[in-house]
Amino acid sequence: MLTILSDITGIGAEKRTPYDPPQELPPGSLEGKVYLVTGGHGGIGLETTRFLALAGARILIASRSSSKVHSAIDSLSSTHGDSIRSKLEYVELDLASLASVKRCAERVLEGEQRLDGVVCNAGIMALPYKLTEDGVEQQFQVNVLGHWLLVNKLLPLLEKTHQLTGEISRVVVLSSFAHNFISLYPFSSPSLSSASALRKTHHSPWLRYSVSKLAGIWFARELDRRGKEKGVRSLSVHPGFVSSNLYDTHALARPLLRFFIPPSSGSYTTLFALTSPQIAERDWWGEYLVPFGKRKEPRRGKDTEREEECWRVCEAVCRERVGGV
Ligand SMILES: NC(=O)c1ccc[n+]([C@@H]2O[C@H](COP(=O)([O-])OP(=O)(O)OC[C@H]3O[C@@H](n4cnc5c(N)ncnc54)[C@H](OP(=O)(O)O)[C@@H]3O)[C@@H](O)[C@H]2O)c1
Repeated sequence: MLTILSDITGIGAEKRTPYDPPQELPPGSLEGKVYLVTGGHGGIGLETTRFLALAGARILIASRSSSKVHSAIDSLSSTHGDSIRSKLEYVELDLASLASVKRCAERVLEGEQRLDGVVCNAGIMALPYKLTEDGVEQQFQVNVLGHWLLVNKLLPLLEKTHQLTGEISRVVVLSSFAHNFISLYPFSSPSLSSASALRKTHHSPWLRYSVSKLAGIWFARELDRRGKEKGVRSLSVHPGFVSSNLYDTHALARPLLRFFIPPSSGSYTTLFALTSPQIAERDWWGEYLVPFGKRKEPRRGKDTEREEECWRVCEAVCRERVGGV
């Protein structure tokens, strides 16, 4: 029982699956590497950025807010010294707009010689129903579709980096324990087999969140299958229950935040998936991980047919809206 709770919340995970970034990722261990972290200026994303930069990597912080990124860079440099600034760069990205995603990817492809990994971290949770400018339900677009286009556009650079370094380029998708909520709605099908399915209300903001987080697991698995031969592998993670701004619009959850794990611990599962040699040693590619580096069978999460279907729908919507990858 305690183990199950720990897998969900991350509380006590350090006893079962210990992970310590300063020890696993000492200064200089990621020197020369380049990572892109969506939403890397706040919450779990900021802590991911911090540990990667302290280990020597350069981070492209992809965000819709230049001012938030620059104040995050100021705060990191006041804590860790001014030299960390050279490791951090802002790149504009609004995942709710496929045109913005395309511009972001093109800028990265133009400006970077290598890209060792992408962290699909940015997300929104249980917001009211709204369609984006691309006509897609906003949670699905920000959490899944926008990342789908971003990663697919960046694939040539990820592949080139693998050829250059001989190391696997990794894509980590932030999913959630909330993908399980789908089971609470027995009459709702999470099938995402047509563009109209991406506009569905599912009658509840939480079910829409759940669908998007299940689709995140599917995205990572399908990407892993397709990228395998080209040296690009992928995983999805649940970071634990993490005290972050994600809960700002959910008054009922706010009193619980003091029991949640801090964003620094919230970044551990992502960092493990992105950098640990244990992933290759255990052949955990494509898998879903829980705090702080434990493999878990996701509920409804292994469905090759649906994974491919969802991939094809994302492809079709991107082709229609921005001419494809
Ligand atoms: N916290 C938890 O308990 C928990 C549990 C399971 C999974 N997760 C997942 O972990 C990830 C990180 O969440 P967090 O807890 O760190 O929450 P957070 O602090 O709210 O971070 C979310 C990030 O996503 C960015 N974002 C939102 N909409 C965007 C858009 N249209 N374009 C680009 N960026 C956008 C936000 O940027 P702005 O600052 O501009 O809004 C913010 O940087 C999310 O995918 C979340 O679903 C979190």
